[in-house]
Amino acid sequence: MLAIQEKSKKDKPMGNTHFKFMEKHFKKRDKKYPPINKIEKTKIKKGSIVLDYGCGPGSYSITAAEVVGNTGKVYAADIHPLAIEEVKKRAKEKNLKNVETILTDCDTSLEDNIIDVVLLLDIYHDLSDTESILKELHRVLTKEGWLSVDDHHFKDDEIVGKISSIGLFKFVERIDEVFNFIKV
Ligand SMILES: C[S@@+](CC[C@H](N)C(=O)[O-])C[C@H]1O[C@@H](n2cnc3c(N)ncnc32)[C@H](O)[C@@H]1O
Repeated sequence: MLAIQEKSKKDKPMGNTHFKFMEKHFKKRDKKYPPINKIEKTKIKKGSIVLDYGCGPGSYSITAAEVVGNTGKVYAADIHPLAIEEVKKRAKEKNLKNVETILTDCDTSLEDNIIDVVLLLDIYHDLSDTESILKELHRVLTKEGWLSVDDHHFKDDEIVGKISSIGLFKFVERIDEVFNFIKV
């Protein structure tokens, strides 16, 4: 019974057709709402080390990589092989050498305490095992690191209660749709 419960808590990648549809939708979204506008609501700056968890086709990973520059780095993590492929393609097209991809459903294999900013954008609602993922994000963040969350599937500041209830992050500020937390 326990084994079944644990298994059912695992996420699975969406179908390829669904992913391609989402990618198309995000291209339109990004034209209307340029990703830099969201990145500017986080603590990402030149030299930051960033983990974009649930990066999708990479709208925010690529923009973040441009902001952090050569002295920074962006780890783009996703459960879907097409996301990883697309991020690699976009980074290559823009000649960005500071983007590394991670195919995962939770564990990033990154060292402890190395990430300055974790992005968790439009993914929280999708996760089956939020606790394990938040634990992993907490592990990789530096002591002064920031977790930036945006999820339009929740109303108002519902996300604050959800993230805070696990006891690993403390809510600090909301900038429009972006909620910024620090490590407890
Ligand atoms: C709605 S998309 C958002 C993509 C991106 N953050 C954005 O806003 O453009 C959610 C992404 O999370 C990924 N995902 C879902 N569950 C995951 C998990 N357990 N671990 C890693 N990625 C996951 C999906 O494959 C998808 O690419």
